[in-house]
Amino acid sequence: MNDETILVVDDEEDMLENCARLLERKGYSCVTTSNPLDAPGIVSEIKPSVVLTDLKMPGKDGIELMKELKEIDSSLIIIVFTAYASVSAAVDAMKDGAFDFIPKPFSADQFIVSIERAIKHRRLEMENKNLRTQIDSSYGFDRIIGKSNAITAVFELIKKVAGTEANILIYGESGTGKELTAKSVHINSRRRDRAFVPVDCVALAENLLESELFGHEKGSFTGAHATKPGLFELADKGSIYFDEIAKMNLATQAKLLRVLQERQFRRVGGRHLLDVDFRVISTTNIDLNEAISRGDFIEDLFWRLNVITIEMPPLRERREDIELLTHHFIDEFSEKNRKKIKGITSEASEILYNYYWPGNIRELQNVIERATSLTDDRYVNASDLPENLIDSSSDTNYMKHLPFKSAKRKWLESFEKKYFSDILKEFNGNISKAARKAGIDRKTVYRILKKHGIDSTG
Ligand SMILES: Nc1ncnc2c1ncn2[C@@H]1O[C@H](COP(=O)(O)OP(=O)(O)OP(=O)(O)O)[C@@H](O)[C@H]1O
Ligand SMILES: [Mg+2]
Repeated sequence: MNDETILVVDDEEDMLENCARLLERKGYSCVTTSNPLDAPGIVSEIKPSVVLTDLKMPGKDGIELMKELKEIDSSLIIIVFTAYASVSAAVDAMKDGAFDFIPKPFSADQFIVSIERAIKHRRLEMENKNLRTQIDSSYGFDRIIGKSNAITAVFELIKKVAGTEANILIYGESGTGKELTAKSVHINSRRRDRAFVPVDCVALAENLLESELFGHEKGSFTGAHATKPGLFELADKGSIYFDEIAKMNLATQAKLLRVLQERQFRRVGGRHLLDVDFRVISTTNIDLNEAISRGDFIEDLFWRLNVITIEMPPLRERREDIELLTHHFIDEFSEKNRKKIKGITSEASEILYNYYWPGNIRELQNVIERATSLTDDRYVNASDLPENLIDSSSDTNYMKHLPFKSAKRKWLESFEKKYFSDILKEFNGNISKAARKAGIDRKTVYRILKKHGIDSTG
């Protein structure tokens, strides 16, 4: 069961045998040595989680040994044995970094309790360490890519508010990076070592949402076979992230409001009030003020959630970031798919720059993922991009973001392309018939088809 190894160092063979028996009975693997001079070599070799060592041994002092072992592995947990008479030695050992001490002689229970506490502590430390490095590499500011004024303003705001306890409401169209921003707030806050708990208000069915949030006691409803802690409990001392908060029903909204006011709640079917302390980060892509006036959202809850507002700019309002993001995603996906893609042609890059991006960064990410897997080339080409991206240059919505002259030119071109490919389809690629219908000569039709790369045979 336990994959932890424990090293015991003591000059008394009886002690070693006794400890080994107790540890093995609990499922730990145990290595012993009566020679403290061997201990550093053993630690380097087998990498134990915990070392138990006597303080007074011939050949080496326990405190000295402890320091030496910590140099080999700073996360090592060390417990020292002390004779009852020498409490002060135990205190000194703790000051020098021992995790705990076990007085000799000890009872089996006393011994095991101390070991289990040490193991638990070590596991938590390892978990936190893993979480921290994972978080640092994926959600640090350097992972939210962008240099435009619009996104830089968001970075500044995150820096300013992350360290406060204020609840945050993030507005933004889909795919603008709301979740990434929420995680960034969390890991730049004092709560970073505790949980970030995402709650998808759309995916969770209404009545389930409540038991998910509050948890339930065993037997509180049919199917509640065991007591289950809710997301509020998991988020204690951390942050809770409500995605699409407007989708939460009114009854649950009212209950959430109470928890925010009282900082206490009961599990479904539970009698005891539990204390909680979490920060709320929520998102919405609809205007909550309108939802309030329709009676779909509780105004008091809105004020609690919206202490600080972060507005995520849509990608089309920060086109300078498109290129940067494109290269970021090309690197990411070419590494993932083991391809050696170096970049993107200027023609393809221009198409990306001009597109309207209704799905924002998520859409760009998908487009690049698809393109990198399609291309056989070292560069992403225009032909690797989805049709709708190229055709949507006729999208008048997007046109309004361009200067009039280039908008007009693009619109005419896409009209021309569509007109002639449609008409050619109608006459099954017969250019003479198409030209007659269009009322222009065949030569001109040829030229236009060539310009747009329309294949008259297809
Ligand atoms: N500035 C950025 N730099 C790099 N990657 C980004 C950036 N913004 C968003 N992304 C990536 O784009 C994708 C969408 O971001 P995220 O999930 O945070 O957006 P969202 O607003 O929550 O989207 P949705 O509304 O679809 O839930 C994610 O894969 C995210 O990693
Ligand atoms: Mg999201």
